[in-house]
Amino acid sequence: MTLVRLLYVSRAVGPQTTAVTDSILSVAQGANRQRGITGVLCQGQGLYLQVLEGERSVINRLYNRITQDRRHQDVELLVLEEISQRRYADWSMAHVILSEDDPMIQLRHPEFDPYSAAGQTVMKMVGELFATGNRIRNTSAKR
Ligand SMILES: Cc1cc2nc3c(=O)[nH]c(=O)nc-3n(C[C@H](O)[C@H](O)[C@H](O)COP(=O)(O)O)c2cc1C
Repeated sequence: MTLVRLLYVSRAVGPQTTAVTDSILSVAQGANRQRGITGVLCQGQGLYLQVLEGERSVINRLYNRITQDRRHQDVELLVLEEISQRRYADWSMAHVILSEDDPMIQLRHPEFDPYSAAGQTVMKMVGELFATGNRIRNTSAKR
């Protein structure tokens, strides 16, 4: 079994409310649990950043479905890496919400554009956003 971690960025279609993302995640978390998928979904400023971890073929299948989902567009693959350990092992899909005008995010990441940044830079930022509790709200239930 080959374990991989995938990171992509996309733009939300329509207003990016927590209600929309909660409805996506309420289905996704159950499906992910069944398929051994873990990860984190960050939303904010009209963008989604999602990390998916799991068996390579399972992650490929999900990613292909996600790229077809009409609730977002411009889905761009940033990182696909083989891993020996999961980073989000306890999360069927953690939910990180960036506030729209968080001055800390602006200061630490001025003019940050995931569509042009190096994939691993974005991966690291997602890890930071997940780890720093004051800039996130984690609404998902633990697995
Ligand atoms: C931003 C975003 C993130 C998503 N994340 C997941 C996920 O982690 N797991 C999942 O099963 N579906 C996720 N989905 C939903 C899939 O795109 C798709 O609707 C779902 O897998 C059901 O596929 P199906 O209708 O072909 O059965 C996500 C959708 C969006 C827009």
